[in-house]
Amino acid sequence: MLDEKILSALRNRPANYISGEELSKDAGVSRSAIWKRVGKLREEGYEIEASPHLGYRLIHLPDSLIPSEIRWKLKTRLLGKEIISYKCVDSTNDVAYSLAEKGLKDGAAIFAEEQTKGKGRHGRRWVSPPRMGIYMSCVLRPDIAPNEISRITLLAAVSVARAIHEATGLTARIKWPNDILINGRKVCGILTEMKAEQDSVDFVVLGIGVNVNTKVECLPKGSSSLKEELRKIGRDEQVSRIELAKRILEDLESNYNTLKMKGFDPIIDAWKGLSVMIGARVKVIMQNRTFEGQAHDIDMDGSLLVRREHGLLEKVSSGDIVIAR
Ligand code: BTN
Repeated sequence: MLDEKILSALRNRPANYISGEELSKDAGVSRSAIWKRVGKLREEGYEIEASPHLGYRLIHLPDSLIPSEIRWKLKTRLLGKEIISYKCVDSTNDVAYSLAEKGLKDGAAIFAEEQTKGKGRHGRRWVSPPRMGIYMSCVLRPDIAPNEISRITLLAAVSVARAIHEATGLTARIKWPNDILINGRKVCGILTEMKAEQDSVDFVVLGIGVNVNTKVECLPKGSSSLKEELRKIGRDEQVSRIELAKRILEDLESNYNTLKMKGFDPIIDAWKGLSVMIGARVKVIMQNRTFEGQAHDIDMDGSLLVRREHGLLEKVSSGDIVIAR
């Protein structure tokens, strides 16, 4: 909290100095405590000038997914109430899972600058090079049955698609169940894991990976990054991971509240509005079989309903989909 007090005072006076004395009075700690914390903040990447007579001045903010940056002006009550950031982990989902088992609260968010074993769906890897993407996992403790878990995944897809649009202006669409595409290329994946009893969910770990400024050479075929999609439309710019991470937390919270207060209908409607699938010809690849048909609708448990050649509807609750061109 002391860090946040110091940063907030410095941010409120971007061009001017603030004296050590004023900072120490505002924060209710000694000047040497302020000096020590400023040293720590510098280690985290904040460029803070210190002048013996004038005091401190903020020169440059770090582009790091650290709590003090993400929490600055974050408009949420629950999501990101607690934020834990790491430089490098195997997988933020694994870290979040084990912390949730030890009691990490509803709404807590884990961020990492890099993952060495980022997990994708169906045992695949999620490419997670340092400082290029967002790799985050939220712990949620929703009051839902284990078979309703896909509601959380669909809710997350709607939230991330919105957040990407708000932060970049790019139009993001959803491919069932949870891929976020821009111009047909995957820029984000969502991996939901849970711990549950027979009829109640203990916790959900909602893992979100976004290729933000990731170099396309690093990514698997068919994937892209936000920076690359902006470049294609003549906008050669770096996307702020911090701004996007904040938007994701805010949109997640707003949809999570909608789910709690109004049920799943508004979420599913939003999902359908963003979907690239409904009406399209698709190939469904399941563990033991493959078939083709037309994506017809999504049902209340989040399964995809596919109309087969013979007219019957088939319910798909897990698998991969290829959209026919
Ligand atoms: C997919 O295959 O589409 C899902 C990818 C999910 C990747 C994210 S990155 C943050 C979180 N930690 C992980 O190990 N995986 C998820």
